[in-house]
Amino acid sequence: IGYLIFTLRISSEGIDSTLVILQSRLQLHSKGETIKIIKKYGDLPLVECYPRQLNQVFMNILSNAIDALEDSGNSRMMDRLPCSSYQSPTIFIRTEMSDPTYLAITIADNGIGMSEEVRKRIFDPFFTTKPVGKGTGMGLPISYQIIVNQHNGQLYCTSAPGQGTEFVIKIPVV
Ligand SMILES: Nc1ncnc2c1ncn2[C@@H]1O[C@H](COP(=O)(O)OP(=O)(O)O)[C@@H](O)[C@H]1O
Ligand SMILES: [Mg+2]
Repeated sequence: IGYLIFTLRISSEGIDSTLVILQSRLQLHSKGETIKIIKKYGDLPLVECYPRQLNQVFMNILSNAIDALEDSGNSRMMDRLPCSSYQSPTIFIRTEMSDPTYLAITIADNGIGMSEEVRKRIFDPFFTTKPVGKGTGMGLPISYQIIVNQHNGQLYCTSAPGQGTEFVIKIPVV
């Protein structure tokens, strides 16, 4: 399973189909708000990739972003939080050539964010801050395995409490 294929637009198509699957979750129950999706897809060259596995990574990262926006539903109303917390819940997705050798996919949210202690452990198997039954702690370790080991790529995360989170996936270009 997981044939190595060449494609031009696999990443944006994969992200779009993942968003369709997640569509019902974009409606946040907490505030009656809908998560805004801002997409900026660049012109991408050929990449060698396992599309099914890449889609699994998009699913893991986007699900986490939605969870983070759900959890920030109440705090957005609290006036002592930084101004980023006032923005309506948003997920930013950008694909671009980061340099001549890597395709970069950025997925960012303006949800609860993470402390440095949490951020350091997100790729540890079974690490989760979510309640039992909701989190398995395997989404990001599996994503890391797929991007770094299977695709010879890179996976970075920057985050701060109340400031949101940004994941950058880098896939080497053929
Ligand atoms: N976008 C995000 N915003 C805030 N925290 C996040 C985000 N993505 C991941 N995390 C943190 O990383 C942990 C591990 O994520 P993951 O491996 O997907 O497991 P799970 O989602 O089952 O907890 C989460 O429990 C959460 O604490
Ligand atoms: Mg997860």
